[in-house]
Amino acid sequence: MMKHSSMRLDKFLVEMGIGSRSQVKEMAKKGRIRVNGAAASDTSMKISPQQDMVEADGRPVAYAAVEYYMLNKPAGVVSATEDSRYPVVTDLIETAVRRDLFPVGRLDLDTEGLLLLTNDGDLAHRLLSPRRHVDKVYEVVYEGIFPKDGARRFEEGIILEDGTRTLPAHWKQEGDRRGLLTIQEGKFHQVKRMMEVLGCRVTYLKRLSMGSLKLDAALKPGDYRPLTSEELEALKKEGAGKEQET
Ligand code: URA
Repeated sequence: MMKHSSMRLDKFLVEMGIGSRSQVKEMAKKGRIRVNGAAASDTSMKISPQQDMVEADGRPVAYAAVEYYMLNKPAGVVSATEDSRYPVVTDLIETAVRRDLFPVGRLDLDTEGLLLLTNDGDLAHRLLSPRRHVDKVYEVVYEGIFPKDGARRFEEGIILEDGTRTLPAHWKQEGDRRGLLTIQEGKFHQVKRMMEVLGCRVTYLKRLSMGSLKLDAALKPGDYRPLTSEELEALKKEGAGKEQET
């Protein structure tokens, strides 16, 4: 939302988590909503969230501009805001003030790990831009024999089954059938497809970091917490960096 922009009172109240559109309408009819001290019976009125004083049941409704959460996504939950079959990641963030959070990028249904949820569209756009080359680190458990020249091939960029070439990626073997893969892009099922080219099948995948943002080891699958100001500052700096060719 732009500074000092105006918006409908009902939209504002819904976004701030006061209730659904019909609930806030009902509250307003009963005189429970006030704008600058006066009862607002018509929720279609325009307000300026930064300038007007809105109260619900006598309590000021604070304008929460943007929210940022780190989630350890569990398997079985979809990286989306709605799904007809599975629970979605935004349902897991119970403390969110705003109703317009969305996941920054996607992890597969069976992938676990770091997922950023926010309503800051600009930051999300910058972090996801294929031209930013934000490093993502994944823990990979696989079946099959990882070839001796696998790390070199990843470093050089490999051709996926659809003919596209991946940007240089870094592989670090971490024991038997387990490694850490750092990629700079986010193609559909990218890690699984890269491993597939080498003849390996991913059996477990977890994202550990995205740029400077590292998954908090204290978060169990399904747990989340707001980003600290340091984490947010570092991410914003990253997003503000120069775009690169390709
Ligand atoms: N690569 C994949 O194959 N799946 C994910 O969820 C993320 C990266």
